[in-house]
Amino acid sequence: MFIPSLFIFSLLFASSQASVVDFCVADLSLPNGPAGYSCKKPSTVTENDFAYSGLVPGNTSNIIKAAVTPAFDAQFPGVNGLGISIARIDLAVDGVIPMHTHPGASEILIVIQGTICAGFISSFDNVIYLKTLYKGDVMVFPQGLLHFQINSGTTTALAYASFGSANPGLQIVDFAFFKNNLPTELLAKTTFLDIAQIKKLKAVLGGTN
Ligand SMILES: *[C@@H]1O[C@H](CO)[C@@H](O)[C@H](O)[C@H]1NC(C)=O
Repeated sequence: MFIPSLFIFSLLFASSQASVVDFCVADLSLPNGPAGYSCKKPSTVTENDFAYSGLVPGNTSNIIKAAVTPAFDAQFPGVNGLGISIARIDLAVDGVIPMHTHPGASEILIVIQGTICAGFISSFDNVIYLKTLYKGDVMVFPQGLLHFQINSGTTTALAYASFGSANPGLQIVDFAFFKNNLPTELLAKTTFLDIAQIKKLKAVLGGTN
């Protein structure tokens, strides 16, 4: 039969063209791009590229009483090209990961210790999805949506967040607004916030203008 044999032929042709690359450990000496880092020469790759010991407790003595310790491609070269990464989140009592987005990936959070109030906001109709999470609970945050985590318990909290990208990105709204030199009048005009509130937050976060 002509058609089946053509089908089989094209399957064979396609598979003979397929190329399998087991991994693409990041070459951190070259710039990152939309497809991640360039690959290190496989002959220079070792087991140490696939393990990471940097997810240690973060320093929460800061304004948000929290620390995010990433194991993204820039810290953990082995995840480059695999569409996966992880971060450690330490929250002191009253700690908060302020409203933020990851432009490049969805997130799954798992609570290891403590109690975390977490939520995200849909982009379509701005619905709030809010949960109190306890030890062992997980919550998923869809890609690009604004979300936050708050320590809502009375002890320190520990969680890990995994991402569907080796480089999920992180943009914290208050930092984007108040940590740079965007002029106060433009911020007031575009956010409807009071000038006094803007100046207060710029002072706290190191913004100017
Ligand atoms: C944590 O950060 C604070 C503020 O920057 C600093 O004073 C303190 O020494 C740091 N603690 C550790 C253990 O690094």
